[in-house]
Amino acid sequence: MAIERTLSIIKPDGVRRNLIGEILGRFEKSGLKVVATRQCVLSKAEAEGFYAVHKERPFFNDLVASMTSGPVVVLVLQGESAILRNRDLMGATNPKNAAPGTIRADLAESIEANTVHGSDATDTAAFEISWFFRGTEIFG
Ligand code: CMP
Repeated sequence: MAIERTLSIIKPDGVRRNLIGEILGRFEKSGLKVVATRQCVLSKAEAEGFYAVHKERPFFNDLVASMTSGPVVVLVLQGESAILRNRDLMGATNPKNAAPGTIRADLAESIEANTVHGSDATDTAAFEISWFFRGTEIFG
């Protein structure tokens, strides 16, 4: 097993509902280390670039609108198999399908307002981390 880094975003619906501490607590209790944090409001161009892989999907415009609707908290999580462990903590994209006890099952409002984003693979984690952070801003 390898030490990995993965990108997590607490989405505007999570920040709006005062869930930053609850979500950070779940990451830390699971043994993942928070090695970078940034709170910001994404511009339309930033959200479109970050989610470029989805640009042909019918939900793309709504996704960009929802991701730019308020502040987000962007995190780098580090640990053994961090990418998969974060995905296990988040649960399925659609909270209706998420396993009990996961962040999305417990906290998400809908598939769009699904409270957290997490990288899904090694290459996307590298792209997503570099989208938000310089190497000198990560303290792993
Ligand atoms: P996220 O993990 O941030 O990746 C893309 C996001 O698009 C996803 O979470 C959802 O919030 C949103 N989304 C909206 N509709 C869909 C859909 N039908 N399938 C997948 N993702 C969707």
